[in-house]
Amino acid sequence: MTGEEQEFFEVTVRQAKLEAEGVVSLEMVPDSGLLPPYEPGSHLDIELPSGLIRQYSLCSPPADLSFYRIAVLRETYGRGGSDEIHDTALVGKRVRIRGPRNHFRLEPSPRYLFIAGGIGITPMLAMVIRAEREKSPYELVYAGRHLETMAFREKLANGPHVKVVVSTETGRPDLAELVAGATDDTLIYACGPSGMLKDLDEVCAKAGRAGQLRLEKFASDGEAAAEAATGHSFVVELAKSGTVVTVGSDQSLLEAIQGLCDLPTSCEDGFCGTCETRVLEGIPEHHDTILNAKEREAGKTMMVCVGRSKSPRLLLDL
Ligand code: FES
Repeated sequence: MTGEEQEFFEVTVRQAKLEAEGVVSLEMVPDSGLLPPYEPGSHLDIELPSGLIRQYSLCSPPADLSFYRIAVLRETYGRGGSDEIHDTALVGKRVRIRGPRNHFRLEPSPRYLFIAGGIGITPMLAMVIRAEREKSPYELVYAGRHLETMAFREKLANGPHVKVVVSTETGRPDLAELVAGATDDTLIYACGPSGMLKDLDEVCAKAGRAGQLRLEKFASDGEAAAEAATGHSFVVELAKSGTVVTVGSDQSLLEAIQGLCDLPTSCEDGFCGTCETRVLEGIPEHHDTILNAKEREAGKTMMVCVGRSKSPRLLLDL
């Protein structure tokens, strides 16, 4: 389902808790009954009192649908969403959420290697809870700069398969060693700072293990939007209104269609999934960090905020 098709609904914030230095968690409950089911790796869109829409991974136990939990790191140079969550008294307030949606699926595998950096523990936590529940063999490496800033340590199992690495004390985890130690049937899931993910990507490619790696980016490095800003000119047709627009070589697809259709966006940088749209005809050129190689090749959907077109014309379900 694309983001466009999901509706916002209201929940009540029942708890806000400081989980670590700079990390607050919110627990949200429905008016009655249970919340929609979700798989580990899913995230929510949350509409803040100011109207900002932000995405956060669910880190509650997926089997317990009486509540959703998210955790938010205060981002010093962010765009205001995390500050608002940290600074607003939200307990008892109603907020609108949409989702859950999942661009980071936990695929079946005989074993897993989970690598979390900092707040990247949030999607990993739901995955670890699932792996524990299903008794799937896994190893978790959770890295952070200081122990005090690392949330949810108390929720992790004890044992040699869970390693907490404090980089200011023992240095960063040796990614090459971790990847070399993984068996061929291990799926490697990682979430964390873009530098760590980039390094891991390179390490896996070098080791011939790119096919085993699944990544989730939390923030853009700005490359997607920059790449999407210019390129070949092409024509886009909006199927719902029949509007036809030429996207100039010096403008983005989003700029060309903004105001002409109902397209929800949030990050506008290809990493949140809010603008995912069905491609009815034509070959999209992807610049997002959400779709995997198979989905890109299939070309059935695209993130319109950063995508362009390989074909002279693109027909979008907008
Ligand atoms: S608005 Fe976030 S991926 Fe397009």
